[in-house]
Amino acid sequence: VKDGFDSFMDKEIHDQPKAVADTLLGRTDATGALVLDELRIPESTLRSIDKIIVIACGTAAYSGHVAKYAIEHWCRIPVEVELAHEFRYRDPILTARTLVVAISQSGETMDTLMAVRHAREQGASVLAIVNTNGSTIPRESDAVLYTHAGPEVAVASTKAFLAQITACYLLGLYLAQLRGTKFADELREILHELQALPDKIQHVLDGEAAVREVAQAMKDEPSFLFLGRHVGYPVALEGALKLKEIAYIHAEGFAAGELKHGPIALVDEGQPVFVIAPSPRGRDQLHHKVVSNIQEVRARGARTLVIAEEGDEAVAPYADIVFRVPQTPTLLSPLVAVVPLQIFASELAKAKGLDVDQPRNLAKSVTVE
Ligand code: BG6
Repeated sequence: VKDGFDSFMDKEIHDQPKAVADTLLGRTDATGALVLDELRIPESTLRSIDKIIVIACGTAAYSGHVAKYAIEHWCRIPVEVELAHEFRYRDPILTARTLVVAISQSGETMDTLMAVRHAREQGASVLAIVNTNGSTIPRESDAVLYTHAGPEVAVASTKAFLAQITACYLLGLYLAQLRGTKFADELREILHELQALPDKIQHVLDGEAAVREVAQAMKDEPSFLFLGRHVGYPVALEGALKLKEIAYIHAEGFAAGELKHGPIALVDEGQPVFVIAPSPRGRDQLHHKVVSNIQEVRARGARTLVIAEEGDEAVAPYADIVFRVPQTPTLLSPLVAVVPLQIFASELAKAKGLDVDQPRNLAKSVTVE
């Protein structure tokens, strides 16, 4: 079942090109337009949406963070992302024009299910993005967009995460198509870029040995920090979560811009800091700002491990170690940038002799509130 891998997690990390490809499969017509037939929410409702609220827990919530950047940019609809258990116990402002998107691998997470019920009671439409066919959350939602990652066994989510992000992109592009906020040729271009992602993920996997070697050498580190901006921020949060979950190491993800507002006080001689560098080809100041952040932590003694695009030479002088990922448009880059972090966590946990697939105190699907 593990296909020769040491753990289900490693197998599932390697399943990721297929998980993304399968989630994209069959969702365009002969003209290249997106068709999401399964969205049984009437088109008129989807056209009139004035707010999206994503609810989820854990890794699934980080896929929602990525969705916010993409959907707001492509559709100009405000997107809020909230942990399902927080959403459930406050008094959220929902109307018939609110689309709630519930993201869950298992489709059984009780916190998310309770939030779905809460949203529907207030009159919002709920779209579930779920991996497990026939599970409870899609049954209780207005519509479901399935991720096609296949069964995920390891408690720490990997391929389901990439499939969730992919499904969120499809939703965003579909809404942009429906609402006319992007021209057809622009949409086709983004879709085309998205379709290139499975091969790019495979390319990152082909270079995994270098990541594993670094992870083994760092197995006794007591703490790691992760920094990112824009879509690199949820990637940083996810990288930290993976290390906590399976390697039991203190790890924290921060928005890189927040460094000077507190976290930089944690940086001391030898502190390992992962930094997710955005594409230097992006239009804005993003890359430049992150390079400054790398310099700032390096100047205070940090050991910097930088995830950077191939050809990005600006990071090299400040990076102790660079993990390269293929050139990818910024909004789609989490699909490649998170992969070295998953491999790193898996290898480090293994080097510590831990059970990578069944971490202590955690369950694959938490069916209690
Ligand atoms: C946690 C799992 O308990 O639940 C995480 O350990 C997962 O891996 C989270 O991301 C949410 O689960 P689901 O099934 O709703 O995606």
